[in-house]
Amino acid sequence: MVTAMAMANTRRRMHPVLTAMVDFHTHILPGVDDGSHSVEESLQMLHAMPEVSCVIATPHFYAWENTPERFLRRRTAAWEQLRERLDDTVPDIRLGAEVCYFEGICRSDELHSLCIEGTNVLLLEMPFEKWSSRALHDLLELGHRAELRVVLAHAERYESFYHKRDWQHVADSPIMIQCNAAFFLRLRTRREALRLVKDGHIHLLGSDCHGAEHRAPNLDEAAQVIRKNLGEDALCEIDRLALRLLDGKGAE
Ligand SMILES: [Fe+2]
Repeated sequence: MVTAMAMANTRRRMHPVLTAMVDFHTHILPGVDDGSHSVEESLQMLHAMPEVSCVIATPHFYAWENTPERFLRRRTAAWEQLRERLDDTVPDIRLGAEVCYFEGICRSDELHSLCIEGTNVLLLEMPFEKWSSRALHDLLELGHRAELRVVLAHAERYESFYHKRDWQHVADSPIMIQCNAAFFLRLRTRREALRLVKDGHIHLLGSDCHGAEHRAPNLDEAAQVIRKNLGEDALCEIDRLALRLLDGKGAE
């Protein structure tokens, strides 16, 4: 089996830049959610990320709209359309999902099918409203489930929805933190984003790209910001962790 590390190395040879970057959160599959509208748009997006070696395709999964089976059928259909147009000038793609929180998620036994393929990694989106004690409880319980590795999607976007005291429980849990490239690119949040990377609080990066024009791939630019301010090692550390997760080796 070709490992994520080997795939990343292949592309690194083609693009002799420094890191083997993983875009952990994208809406790159055509016609499956509010991301790419067509195979052509997906290809444009993939060609707009020259430093990225591996892209995780994470279409939205909403439990109140879809069953996992129906979602996976649609995802497979979109992937098959795109796959036949790919060549080795674009990053490798792994299939996953951005699973939106629903009440009772921590008791669901259907989550494994929504993890990134070949792993137990679940990308979880929390509500964009004040987190209820129930939601926080479910998040923490899910985060402590031994058979799952929960990654909190675009964690920087929830700051106004939780109490700082509650956040400490999340920070102390096994839950991993993914932040979006935009967090590093906006001048008003850049300093905070860099501080969190420096202190080891951001584990994974994603562009959360939705199209070739609107919410376009931007992880390469965020990488430049990190590299310039914190050095190549900070970026390599994040990429190393992402590749280990994709190889099913856990976070340590
Ligand atoms: Fe997303």
